[in-house]
Amino acid sequence: MSKIIIAIDGYSSCGKSSTAKGVAKSLGYQYIDTGAMYRAVTLYFIQNHISLTNPKEVDSALDRIEIEFRANSEGKSDTYLNGLNVEEEIRKLYVADKVSDVAAIAAVRHAMVREQQRMGKKKGFVLDGRDIGTVVFPGAELKIFMTADPMVRAQRRQAELLDKGELVDLEEVLENIKKRDIIDTTRDESPLRQADDAHLLDTTFMTLDEQIEKVVLLADTKHEKA
Ligand code: DC
Repeated sequence: MSKIIIAIDGYSSCGKSSTAKGVAKSLGYQYIDTGAMYRAVTLYFIQNHISLTNPKEVDSALDRIEIEFRANSEGKSDTYLNGLNVEEEIRKLYVADKVSDVAAIAAVRHAMVREQQRMGKKKGFVLDGRDIGTVVFPGAELKIFMTADPMVRAQRRQAELLDKGELVDLEEVLENIKKRDIIDTTRDESPLRQADDAHLLDTTFMTLDEQIEKVVLLADTKHEKA
């Protein structure tokens, strides 16, 4: 069986990362959370008061940023920013609130795409994001585009945040999701869109196990051809 690249794109809080992790585990693939990279850059920009409208400041900040993924004691992957574990911090709402603006900056996208292409050079990777099937790996053997009803996505995100001890208002989460949808789909630089050859997966009425199973089945049909 030859390994392939699996690109999972879609709106925020559709279950992309949980599905991608589950698929990677089931196939013995590596998982790359590209959203975590944009979140880590956003955290750095917030902490260092980088002006998003000053290209020189943005460029020099990008030169100072190093992002890595390291396995933790539970075998899960944690995001490191310049050697510090920022996995928890980048999931907080104050970072989510700014990340779409940061991810809309061309220089940020170019730096992240370059890094993702370097990381996933070998086959046997599952990447989730917004532009994986369209920009990062347009030749990916399997492309999935995930969507779900915004209210269902808000409820899932609220439960996830609660799980981490962050109590947030459902309306606030829904607003954040809608705002990010608009910024992600209308930005000039590689906006979120379904690749022509991507399989559409609406997860509104699906459980996580069903989502993983569906993608693994699709991957198996590609493995046979690869
Ligand atoms: O998947 P996520 O919610 O962690 O992503 C955080 C933000 O990063 C999201 O608002 C859009 C942006 N993003 C992007 O523009 N391109 C990617 N490949 C991944 C994420």
